[in-house]
Amino acid sequence: MQIDLSGRTALVTGSTQGIGAAVAVALARAGARVGVNGRDERRVAESIASLAVQAPGAELVPVAADVSGDEGAARVAELLPQVDILVNNLGVFGAADPLEITDAEWRRYFEVNVLAAVRLTRLYLPGMTERGWGRIQYVASDSAVAIPAEMIHYGMSKTALLAVSRGFAKKAAGTGVTVNSVIAGPTHTAGVEDFVYELVDRDLP
Ligand SMILES: NC(=O)c1ccc[n+]([C@@H]2O[C@H](COP(=O)([O-])OP(=O)(O)OC[C@H]3O[C@@H](n4cnc5c(N)ncnc54)[C@H](OP(=O)(O)O)[C@@H]3O)[C@@H](O)[C@H]2O)c1
Repeated sequence: MQIDLSGRTALVTGSTQGIGAAVAVALARAGARVGVNGRDERRVAESIASLAVQAPGAELVPVAADVSGDEGAARVAELLPQVDILVNNLGVFGAADPLEITDAEWRRYFEVNVLAAVRLTRLYLPGMTERGWGRIQYVASDSAVAIPAEMIHYGMSKTALLAVSRGFAKKAAGTGVTVNSVIAGPTHTAGVEDFVYELVDRDLP
């Protein structure tokens, strides 16, 4: 299938490695200008250098910002005022005994995995609808529907993304903007490697 995204600008959150980096390459190869996002400027620059090899000639824009908070979202808006394709890929994951997940951890999972995506949707959806074209994608997980006992906080955040995407899809219906979630399954990434190493050292249910 040939997809031509030339003239479109995309932002992929959490794209210095893993699934986000792969999505950034695919969008760049299809002709989009792509914002590559991570928290650290140097890591974003290194990632862009490696992604550029995989998508020669692509326009890759460094977007160093922690998108889990207001300030980071404001920085993103400065660096990329117009986005046509928003891929809300950022998500943290980890295992914990369900009875020991603290209120602070529950809040952190909601802030990083859900609210960050909602905030960016609020930022970019109005422009997309005005221009009559846009794509918003959330990266959910099989843990949204098959909740692991040791990852209830993570599962909750991914189930919430299904609700958020469904609601925004209804809001955007008929405007030329589509809003969807993808339920990703286990994927070998650097983040998952860290997670697995951490798991084997812990006593979990
Ligand atoms: N891998 C799987 O098996 C799997 C399965 C189902 C769903 N998913 C979902 O897929 C998505 C990506 O997973 P992954 O395994 O590719 O992740 P990963 O390897 O852990 O990569 C995480 C990315 O997010 C960036 N990041 C972390 N916190 C950030 C923040 N506050 N602001 C901006 N960027 C931030 C990291 O960049 P820096 O460190 O440079 O900031 C990195 O690029 C997540 O939503 C995950 O829940 C993954």
